[in-house]
Amino acid sequence: MSIAIVGGTGPEGSGLALRWAQAGETIIIGSRDAQRALETAAKLSASAGADKKISGTENRFACSAAEIVVLTVPFAAHAETLKHIEPSLRAGQILVDTTVPLAASIGGKPTRTLGVWQGSAAQQAAELAPEGVIVVAAFHNLAADLLQQQAAIDCDVIVCSDDKDAGKRVRELARKIPGVRALDGGKLENARIVEQITAVLIGLNIRYKGHSGLRITGLPAAAFER
Ligand SMILES: NC(=O)c1ccc[n+]([C@@H]2O[C@H](COP(=O)([O-])OP(=O)(O)OC[C@H]3O[C@@H](n4cnc5c(N)ncnc54)[C@H](OP(=O)(O)O)[C@@H]3O)[C@@H](O)[C@H]2O)c1
Repeated sequence: MSIAIVGGTGPEGSGLALRWAQAGETIIIGSRDAQRALETAAKLSASAGADKKISGTENRFACSAAEIVVLTVPFAAHAETLKHIEPSLRAGQILVDTTVPLAASIGGKPTRTLGVWQGSAAQQAAELAPEGVIVVAAFHNLAADLLQQQAAIDCDVIVCSDDKDAGKRVRELARKIPGVRALDGGKLENARIVEQITAVLIGLNIRYKGHSGLRITGLPAAAFER
């Protein structure tokens, strides 16, 4: 199974790429610029180990070659990027949206979010993706700075999707990152709430100078295995 990371040259996408490559997944870094994708892939290979499977290419080619596509671009580029990759997406593919509609993406404050007509960035993705592409929202609360380090990450990932099987596959992918636990956050419409939490976490990071994450308490251990 190959995972394409659209916008994989940025901190969030390359952090996820690093962790998944270390766990043995095949990664294709996507970029608007194939050369930039190749350079990022080479850097990640140097960190993850030469035996790891990381390549780089233009976003559309990356999507065509993958079973799972992870979208890691700023919200300002969200709709435009989805329209660009649309011809390379196909029914049955899983599209994982990590996008937080931060006001910072259009020059506003990083602690504020923008209203999205569809309810959330993930729901906007579901509207723009071709029919049959399954959208899953995840990783909004996982800080790129922590992904890029080697240590286990003290954070839970809440995964929202209208497709139970796709949600389960993405939870399995999240659990490949050491320290991360993953939970079924319900339907895709709940991404609206999970995306918003990130703005609060960014405010905490600014006030207390850290990389905050989420831990959900009070659930049976089995909840984190399903
Ligand atoms: N950073 C975090 O800690 C974090 C945590 C959770 C979720 N997220 C979410 O993950 C996404 C990516 O975050 P990031 O910090 O990695 O973002 P970023 O560095 O601003 O952008 C990621 C990549 O997106 C591409 N990009 C930038 N502007 C673009 C445009 N106008 N059109 C098309 N592509 C563009 C660039 O790749 P190319 O130039 O190579 O095409 C860039 O390297 C965001 O939606 C963010 O809300 C981030």
